[in-house]
Amino acid sequence: MEIPWIIDLDDHEASGIRDFTRYHANGEREEVMSAVMDGLGPHGLYNVTDTIMCKMPTGVTPEEASRMNHEHRLGFELFFVDSGSMYLYLEGRRCIIREGDILQLQPTQIHAMASIEDVKWRGFFHDLDSFNTSIAVNQVASRLGPDVKQDPDFQKAQGTKDYRKHEQPTFVDVPAEAVNAVKNPARPLARFEFPGLTVKVIVPRWENWGVTELVLGEMKAGTRISWGYHPCREQYYVRKGKVKLSLFGEERIAGKSCIINVPMLAPFSLEALEDAEVYDVGGQTEWFNFLLDYHSLRTYNPERLAEALPALKERDGVAIEGIET
Ligand SMILES: [Fe+2]
Repeated sequence: MEIPWIIDLDDHEASGIRDFTRYHANGEREEVMSAVMDGLGPHGLYNVTDTIMCKMPTGVTPEEASRMNHEHRLGFELFFVDSGSMYLYLEGRRCIIREGDILQLQPTQIHAMASIEDVKWRGFFHDLDSFNTSIAVNQVASRLGPDVKQDPDFQKAQGTKDYRKHEQPTFVDVPAEAVNAVKNPARPLARFEFPGLTVKVIVPRWENWGVTELVLGEMKAGTRISWGYHPCREQYYVRKGKVKLSLFGEERIAGKSCIINVPMLAPFSLEALEDAEVYDVGGQTEWFNFLLDYHSLRTYNPERLAEALPALKERDGVAIEGIET
């Protein structure tokens, strides 16, 4: 079955996303967890969940609410904080993260959260087998019955579930800006300017085991970027504004909170209908390496740029054919 080109995380019903609510002992909601896309390939790429991390229950302190302290031994977690605010407990420190922040967790980083208010918590993972079969599990359970989830052989076939529980965290308070795992588009690692487009490197590849990177394209209204044949599936997340996807002669609109999935090889374009923030969450293109060399040539050897560009693009998997404004 083809993965939908557009998935609107603000409209689960229209996008066919099923929600599962967990409750605290006092009956208040703890989280509303939704599997959006299972992982693909040996690194479990393109694995997406969308969760409401609910406000900590009445009468419970943040420290009590932080008892879900845990680590993943192999898996990487990236979360967009798209509403509200929460305490983040990370390796002996605590800070507050809020709407607009991005959390990039590497394996063995011990983490817990406690929501100050409801948080839209959009997760993009790789090499994490905790979530990358959720949709498949639910499909089988809906046909064979929910008891199948308790079958040890069924559980074994799903993988190890990379999750190691820890004791309740102790901590010192620090500002979010002091925690490397907390990213924000206002504090990019690097930025590169083009007409109608600012590219910001948010998470470099070396923080992702070399498997992915997170890059943001800030597109001015009217900017149109077109791709030719590209070697991997492309996945984008529109965090602000609105873009038009043109693919196979069809046009689709992706607004705020939409994921865009483009099948591998298929030429396509994205046009900003209003100022837009578009993240490359698939992370297969080696943007940072490409942009460093491109910028170097543009700065020091502009006469060599046109000749060198095709080889640079091929090396780093850059299939962009043009940027129009
Ligand atoms: Fe986690």
